Amino acid sequence: MATIQDIINSYKDKPGGIIEAYHAVQREYNYLPEEAVEYAARVFGISAAQAFGVATFYSYLSVAKRGQYIIRMCESAPCHIAGADILIKTFEDELGIKVGETTADGKFTLELTECVGQCQGTPVITINSMPYVDMNPEQVPAVLALCK
Ligand code: FES
Repeated sequence: MATIQDIINSYKDKPGGIIEAYHAVQREYNYLPEEAVEYAARVFGISAAQAFGVATFYSYLSVAKRGQYIIRMCESAPCHIAGADILIKTFEDELGIKVGETTADGKFTLELTECVGQCQGTPVITINSMPYVDMNPEQVPAVLALCK
């Protein structure tokens, strides 16, 4: 795994600079550690407050620690009607966490998302951006087992 410093340094003179660097760090670490934001401030010559402001402005960037597997439940209307509520409750029960939380072992984070463009197979979840369609609560343990 590349270090945070190496990733950020590699975007120093590129267009998009700090935002692209944040994306790259998040791709590798699943979130933006505080250390990354502080280091980016130094590399891009802005204050720590400004670097933190950029990191928290975009909803797709997260400064909160997230798990190795990020499970997102689509909550847009078609998935909602198809049983998203029951599915999310099943994931919460299986993992022992609520939406927005990460398991104590750092393995799973549970989040909600808007439509991911797979409405032909509602309800839909994604795990690290990979869609799983036509989900039902009985499939949840098997899907989680795939991540072990
Ligand atoms: S509404 Fe859920 S994937 Fe489109």
